[in-house]
Amino acid sequence: MQIAFVAGATGYTGREVVRVLVGRGVRTVAHVRPDSPRLEEWRQRFEGAGAAVDSTPWVDAEMVHTLSTLQPTHVFSLLGTTRARRRESATRGATESYEAIDFGLTAMLIRAAVASGSKPRFVYLSSMGVREHTSNAYLAARWRAESLLHASGLPYIIARPSFITGPGRDESRPLERAGAAVVDALASVARVAGAERLASSMRSLTGEELADGLVRYAFDASVENATVGSDELHSTPRR
Ligand SMILES: NC(=O)c1ccc[n+]([C@@H]2O[C@H](COP(=O)([O-])OP(=O)(O)OC[C@H]3O[C@@H](n4cnc5c(N)ncnc54)[C@H](OP(=O)(O)O)[C@@H]3O)[C@@H](O)[C@H]2O)c1
Repeated sequence: MQIAFVAGATGYTGREVVRVLVGRGVRTVAHVRPDSPRLEEWRQRFEGAGAAVDSTPWVDAEMVHTLSTLQPTHVFSLLGTTRARRRESATRGATESYEAIDFGLTAMLIRAAVASGSKPRFVYLSSMGVREHTSNAYLAARWRAESLLHASGLPYIIARPSFITGPGRDESRPLERAGAAVVDALASVARVAGAERLASSMRSLTGEELADGLVRYAFDASVENATVGSDELHSTPRR
């Protein structure tokens, strides 16, 4: 039986991944952090859609216990913080840095997936532009998470999309929408200039499009240990 554990299930991408997985008949466990003020709302929504909900705290031993019990065939890591959330957390005296969330929680999930013994395929939502030598804290945290995944021995898919944007986000995120509009305009110019490959690699994706791409790669037995960008993630890759 295929069993998927989805961390970041409440996010713009995660909720769509849960929907697509359930639609494929995969036993799907949507993770919602126990301190989420919307835990009950998410429980009703996910359970109503046919997924189970897990609210294991982000603590190593507890995550190991949950994945060891569940024995997932697939683990999705679709989480991360934002600049606005980091600023807001600082006002509460908390540290929700890219290092703590984007790297730290994914690292915990990788360790738990390894310890579970079920050798799940690990699908990590990273980002376009990730590289080793960078002074950008966001890209550096994601490089470290990717490196840990490479070294983990787990089969993996790493997704590096361009902007993820579209209708249905909980927050307005004007900078993200503006960034997506710019890269999509540049992609159109590149396409007119005949640079199809460049154009496809820059295209933004909606949460639905990205979820379709992530799940397609997650269950494609002919592709393993691959890093894919916006082009490959779109259901209509470049011609
Ligand atoms: N947006 C883009 O254009 C873009 C482009 C490339 C890559 N990415 C990366 O792709 C990932 C997913 O994107 P998205 O737009 O779907 O993200 P999103 O809607 O912001 O969702 C983020 C997820 O991370 C969880 N999360 C955030 N802070 C947390 C914390 N302190 N503890 C536990 N969970 C926490 C959220 O849980 P709660 O709901 O409980 O807060 C939510 O499930 C992001 O990490 C992002 O960096 C984004």
